Amino acid sequence: MSLAAELEQFRGEAVTQIEACADRDQLEEARIALLGRNGRLKELSKAFGQASPDEKRELGRKLNEVNTAVKDAFAAKQSALKRSLDASPIDVTEPRDNQRVGSIHPISQVAKAVEDVFSSMGFDIVDGPHIEEDEYNFGRLNIPADHPARDSQDTFWLSTGKLLRTHTSSVQSRTYPDAELPLRKVVVGKVFRYEEVDATHDNTFTQVEGFIVDKGITVANLVGTLRTMISAVLERDDVEVRLRPSFFPFVEPGFEVDVRVLGAEGRLANWVELLGCGMIHPEVLKQGGIDPDEYQGFAFGLGLERLTMIRHGIQDIRLFNGADLRGLHQFSA
Ligand code: PHE
Repeated sequence: MSLAAELEQFRGEAVTQIEACADRDQLEEARIALLGRNGRLKELSKAFGQASPDEKRELGRKLNEVNTAVKDAFAAKQSALKRSLDASPIDVTEPRDNQRVGSIHPISQVAKAVEDVFSSMGFDIVDGPHIEEDEYNFGRLNIPADHPARDSQDTFWLSTGKLLRTHTSSVQSRTYPDAELPLRKVVVGKVFRYEEVDATHDNTFTQVEGFIVDKGITVANLVGTLRTMISAVLERDDVEVRLRPSFFPFVEPGFEVDVRVLGAEGRLANWVELLGCGMIHPEVLKQGGIDPDEYQGFAFGLGLERLTMIRHGIQDIRLFNGADLRGLHQFSA
């Protein structure tokens, strides 16, 4: 077959091959096989060398013509493919109906509400380390090494002698030594206990610690502050609080506080134990370099899970750390 006939045959086959391509990948493969550096057209043009100058002129024109025709077919197919992609009934960017949207964890939602109400009362929001020194978690809170109160707050110890803090009261003892007085601070953070996990206990939970040091602070200030916070978080005006005497080594006097909501039904209508609190023990102030004859203060520590369970009527604390989205998604704000 003459070179001219071969070129003509190549043109026909190339155009057919290009038109048969179903997608961009196939088209690119075809382009390389037909027009590429080692493609068929390159192969054919090698035979050129043997032709006479006259034939060369004629074949050169033919070669250009075939080359242009194949390139045109390629360009036409390329835009046809693009058009059909644009018109495709499947829009891969369209959001699916059943797509799950993430939600803010119920504990984080309540933490935010608590921080907001304390900010509005002039408290600073502070923070402290999870890995704590024995001294800050216990010692400076009037719980020396052999004190039986340690038994109720066993925790996870590190080989360095440090521990995972058992309560946010550790932030009190960290704050006092170089605090500017008067002070009002609140901390929301994780605490850890060596606990058997059940519906109302977890080994990792969240506490809110609030503390004030000022002149002339009384239990009345404490009760008023707590009532304001609880009403705000539960979004109810008819919240009642009840104080029962209790013992914590770092307060004197100490109380446990129960709440109920007067107009409510069910869970909220019953007294629920919510937090521990009291007037900061003079010894704790002294250890922090504060003169207890000049300054007084109150402190409280509250389990945020408990408050969230009351707010939403949640029955099982394991919901919070269990990562079961069926539960958590019910509280998307
Ligand atoms: N830290 C105590 C606890 O975790 C709670 C508490 C805080 C009690 C502040 C009194 C004052 O049990």
